[in-house]
Amino acid sequence: MNYPEDIVSEILLSEEEIRKKAEELALKINEDYQNAPLTIVCTLKGAIFFFADLMKNIHIDCRIEFIKASSYIGNTTSTTGNVTISNSNFEIRGRDILLIEDIIDTGLTYYQLKQYFKAQGCLSCEMCVLLDKKERREVPIQAKYVGFEIENKFVIGYGLDYNEAYRNLPYVGVINPKYIK
Ligand code: XMP
Ligand code: MG
Repeated sequence: MNYPEDIVSEILLSEEEIRKKAEELALKINEDYQNAPLTIVCTLKGAIFFFADLMKNIHIDCRIEFIKASSYIGNTTSTTGNVTISNSNFEIRGRDILLIEDIIDTGLTYYQLKQYFKAQGCLSCEMCVLLDKKERREVPIQAKYVGFEIENKFVIGYGLDYNEAYRNLPYVGVINPKYIK
């Protein structure tokens, strides 16, 4: 079964735009982390495509890890604010951590992840995020690297889901409200 043709009401970012942005951001990361014991952490599942685009342009010595951070329950389109972290069984103490995220919204996920990594003794914990819904912020936190600022609309594709579907769309688009239950 294919996705409905009108699943998005608007395409916000094409694959090409995202790839170019990932190249730009990777250049900065390459410069900023020249001498650091860097661990780049991909947050599952939403960040995987952006993460892959970024990593192909990162040329510095680094480790790659994956964690799962979830704050949604079922088919809602807003966060519960309570973040569950799993799969974080890797060396954190004494490492610079760069989290790769799909989107920063209220900021609660990033806030709690940062607290977690700090408590585990990381040297630093920054974030590189594809999308930033700045106006929605509930905690004063800012990603060091931001791909695109977007309006407060629910977006899908390029890793982002609604109720676990649509992650494989090769662009970021605003979900057609008629498909939100
Ligand atoms: P917070 O509010 O903690 O949220 O900064 C970050 C997480 O919320 C999810 N999120 C979205 N997921 N389309 C999505 O598919 C959206 O428009 C959207 N806005 C927030 C996402 O999982 C992110 O990691
Ligand atoms: Mg996410």
